[in-house]
Amino acid sequence: MSQELRIRTARAEDDAELAALDHRTWSTLHAVMPEPEPPLPPFFCERHAVEDCLVAEVAGRPVGYLRLGAPTPLAANAHVLQIQGLVVDDDARGRGVGRALIRAALAEARRRGARRLTLRVLGHNTPARRLYESEGFAVEGVLPEEFLLAGEYVDDVFMGQRL
Ligand SMILES: CC(C)(COP(=O)(O)OP(=O)(O)OC[C@H]1O[C@@H](n2cnc3c(N)ncnc32)[C@H](O)[C@@H]1OP(=O)(O)O)[C@@H](O)C(=O)NCCC(=O)NCCS
Repeated sequence: MSQELRIRTARAEDDAELAALDHRTWSTLHAVMPEPEPPLPPFFCERHAVEDCLVAEVAGRPVGYLRLGAPTPLAANAHVLQIQGLVVDDDARGRGVGRALIRAALAEARRRGARRLTLRVLGHNTPARRLYESEGFAVEGVLPEEFLLAGEYVDDVFMGQRL
């Protein structure tokens, strides 16, 4: 990246920019929710807190984000953290932003004392799968043909790593 990349915790003021980023990058390569229609829903909500979101910023502009969350609300599951969203803006891809977000998420999960970090990725999402594999995630399970997206059945792939 010619300009410096910074990873920081999100702030409430990021809401509109991250919602817009989500909207313009929507694709059936990674999204299982239908394409959002304006007016866009708030990015941060009860399920996705501000402090659980890492923002990648270049020259003061958000170019990507990663959301961490609990896979379930159960106390018995509290040692596991999950990546529940990772997006890099189209014009910022292929320059190490995604990798920097994953490394920051691993560091944050360790800082919080998590034992494992997991995620779900669509079987046809080759860029994301390569990135996760190269950062130490292994496939731990596959739900075959779990989603019907744009007329194609797509696997839901579970990946994880011990921290
Ligand atoms: C997946 C995504 C986050 C990667 O972000 P990025 O900033 O472009 O990734 P990086 O530049 O850090 O690349 C890291 C690695 O990812 C893999 N990768 C990235 N783009 C790739 C592509 N088009 N094809 C194959 N592998 C790719 C490579 O292994 C790459 O390592 P390398 O540069 O040493 O080859 C980005 O493509 C994206 O936002 N996609 C849409 C949303 C998405 O799929 N999110 C994941 C949901 S589970």
